[in-house]
Amino acid sequence: MTTSPILEVQQLSIQLKSKTLIHPCNFTLHKGEILGLVGESGSGKTLTSMAIFQLLQKEMLLSGSIRLGDVELTQASDKQMRQIRGRDMAFIMQNPMNAFSPVYTIGNQFIELIRTHLQCSKKEAIERATNALADVHLQNPNHLLSLYPFQLSGGMLQRVMIAFASCLQPKVIIADEPTTALDVYNQLQVLKHLEHIRATCDTAILLISHDLSVIAEMADRVIVMEKGHIVETATVLELFDTPKHEYTKHLLNSRLTFQHVKEEAE
Ligand SMILES: Nc1ncnc2c1ncn2[C@@H]1O[C@H](COP(=O)(O)OP(=O)(O)OP(=O)(O)O)[C@@H](O)[C@H]1O
Ligand SMILES: [Mg+2]
Repeated sequence: MTTSPILEVQQLSIQLKSKTLIHPCNFTLHKGEILGLVGESGSGKTLTSMAIFQLLQKEMLLSGSIRLGDVELTQASDKQMRQIRGRDMAFIMQNPMNAFSPVYTIGNQFIELIRTHLQCSKKEAIERATNALADVHLQNPNHLLSLYPFQLSGGMLQRVMIAFASCLQPKVIIADEPTTALDVYNQLQVLKHLEHIRATCDTAILLISHDLSVIAEMADRVIVMEKGHIVETATVLELFDTPKHEYTKHLLNSRLTFQHVKEEAE
């Protein structure tokens, strides 16, 4: 691609005491692009996204460079990062329970998010929040705003988080397994919604998923991680047609085996 990337990760590595959790890795994300990130459990997908958001535990040592446009995120102050998170870059977390405070209603948290970043009245913020919840097919959004996170199912919370992530139209969304807690119908709705955000707002999306059929459907390019290393980067067509790395072949093969087992069982 010829345009300059919106997010550029260079030589990113993460160390915990004497253990290297992420080995130096490089990738870029361009405006309007969906970049898939795949790899077996424990390969480092979530740690990589936490590093981008500067949300790693203090004991973890990060080195390398993460640039969002002109801003070097590894050098950003806490205050700068608070402004960037939500407005420029949003995170759909793998575990939705971690994303909300248990002591405030969904409405409180949503309105706070909107009014931290946008100059608008409370009424306008509520309107924005209800529209964003309706966009992810949540019924009765006004009532939903009055509920606490524990009153919602995991799948509903995941969709609320997607509404939070998309309502400020950030430049970048990192979606860490955004559909795992959802049934097939809602999976499809969420994926359609992400595709819609990309198409209408030119948002760049880093899409992390175990599900290779989701990646095949959604991604333009794909990064494959294994044990903290990026072992392959390819367009989605190249990856599925001519996987180069043994590990990628292994991932694709295990998917076929799984499909086979499922068909046998049916
Ligand atoms: N807080 C932590 N302390 C110590 N090790 C950690 C911590 N968080 C992650 N790790 C280790 O870092 C590696 C990468 O973890 P990560 O959560 O990024 O994997 P993942 O690819 O997201 O896996 P999954 O697909 O299961 O979500 C794993 O080996 C994990 O054990
Ligand atoms: Mg993970």
